[in-house]
Amino acid sequence: MYVILLGLPGAGKGTQAANLAETTGLSHITTGELFRDHIYRRGTELGRKAKPYYEAGKLVPDELTIGMLRERIAGPDCALGCLFDGFPRTLEQAEALDEALAERGAAVDRVVYIKVAEEELVRRLAGRWNCRQCGAVYHEASSPPQRPGVCDRCGGELYQREDDKPEVVRQRLEVNLRELGKLLDYYEGRVVEVDGQQDIDGVGREILAVISPS
Ligand code: AP5
Ligand code: MG
Ligand code: ZN
Repeated sequence: MYVILLGLPGAGKGTQAANLAETTGLSHITTGELFRDHIYRRGTELGRKAKPYYEAGKLVPDELTIGMLRERIAGPDCALGCLFDGFPRTLEQAEALDEALAERGAAVDRVVYIKVAEEELVRRLAGRWNCRQCGAVYHEASSPPQRPGVCDRCGGELYQREDDKPEVVRQRLEVNLRELGKLLDYYEGRVVEVDGQQDIDGVGREILAVISPS
């Protein structure tokens, strides 16, 4: 099963995809985390090219993003399906995903839009902490780690993302709002909207109900 989680920055795509990956066994594919790995952990050539876009809150060009994604879904852990978090983000990416899945005899099975109001997104991003090592996501109020500054999962150091500075958050919201409308049109008739303003477990239950075969 191939599931896309759509939503603006801070909507909870990463939080939900990580939880759902555990309950469903599907792989969690996150282009944001792949870029952070290339830029900050591994310092690759792709990371060098992506960094200025990432740090300005702009979309990384499609050719870089699509190439990286195609390589990722060729991995053996994606053979039975995956949860896409943060991809596709443009029409060209949506078309490329359809093509890449068709080559494998597969298709997008579910598109879930996690809807959250803008003022709540800003609040969430301002209080978010990520693990430098494993990428796990926390919030200082709604899902704090057991020990401040330390990841529950791997013991790694928690930090605030470079693109969570208020001026970059504004830019990300603007860019993503524009593209989201086009994606909702592209997947029209196939998108299920979920209320992303419930607590984390409530949102998770709603998504699980959408993606579980009835
Ligand atoms: P990416 O890392 O994907 O960032 P994003 O889309 O801006 O989304 P976020 O990761 O900020 O939010 P999220 O929806 O995952 O929310 P989270 O679960 O963390 O991309 C970063 C950059 O990489 C892009 O700007 C671009 O430069 C580049 N990039 C990535 N993909 C690309 C693509 N396809 N094409 C081109 N460029 C690309 O939750 C947020 C906070 O809220 C957390 O603190 C969490 O604990 C808390 N929270 C979550 N759910 C709830 C809840 N229900 N109630 C209360 N708090 C909650
Ligand atoms: Mg995320
Ligand atoms: Zn960790």
